[in-house]
Amino acid sequence: MNLDLSKIPSHVAVIMDGNGRWAKAQGKNRLFGHKTGVKAVQKIVQESARLGIKNLTLYAFSTENWKRPEQEVTILMTLLVSSLKKELKQMTENNILFNTIGDLSKLPGPVQKELKYTIEQTQNNSGMKLTLALNYGGKEELTQAFKEIAHKVKNNIISPENVDETIINKHLYTRNLPDVDLLIRTSGEERISNFLLWKIAYAELYFTEILWPEFNESHLHLAIHNYQKRERRFGKTSEQLNA
Ligand code: IPE
Ligand code: IPE
Ligand code: MG
Repeated sequence: MNLDLSKIPSHVAVIMDGNGRWAKAQGKNRLFGHKTGVKAVQKIVQESARLGIKNLTLYAFSTENWKRPEQEVTILMTLLVSSLKKELKQMTENNILFNTIGDLSKLPGPVQKELKYTIEQTQNNSGMKLTLALNYGGKEELTQAFKEIAHKVKNNIISPENVDETIINKHLYTRNLPDVDLLIRTSGEERISNFLLWKIAYAELYFTEILWPEFNESHLHLAIHNYQKRERRFGKTSEQLNA
């Protein structure tokens, strides 16, 4: 696969889906699926940094995922802490800046603590920005932004006429991220599941049947290759773009 290194998407977002179905197909429990999913995360993070992707945003736990059996939620949280501990060295070596989006205050204390530590330890890194979406929901993100803006309008900090896209963007968890260029979802599901609603407005969508635990470097290359063949018109005509 020959990738055009001058056309690497600057922001890639991934809905990592299919851990449970993958495990079931192996005759194993969902925990095994999630554990193997973590290994896929490690591969994709490393390869994304190597390719020169500037921003990689991964959907790890949605605001809706609390509805899962309590035991599975606990397992996911435990796995998160252990992988953060394990991956800090790799992130440092690869100059990766770690960040999160979502309402962390609802996460268990030890998870919050480990996240805070990892963010602090990597905040001076200047390479790829890796963002983990945790207790993240696109609607929740917009709701908290509008609430904050409403307070500011009430207190005369912002005038209603000045509310524009720039101001809304400044109140999002994703305020420091550019728009998504490429959104990948694994496992054959073709939906957004409340991910990054604002920032995917003009993203190129890529769906693959591959289940997340099996998603590897070559699948990532395939997704980027597919992206590179597309014409992103942003409302213009093809003729305008080629003029
Ligand atoms: C994605 O895999 C991981 C999370 C949502 C945390 P799933 O656990 O959703 O796997 P399926 O969709 O049940 O196969
Ligand atoms: C989306 O996957 C959330 C994450 C990948 C973290 P889900 O498996 O929860 O999504 P639905 O329920 O199939 O839409
Ligand atoms: Mg799923």
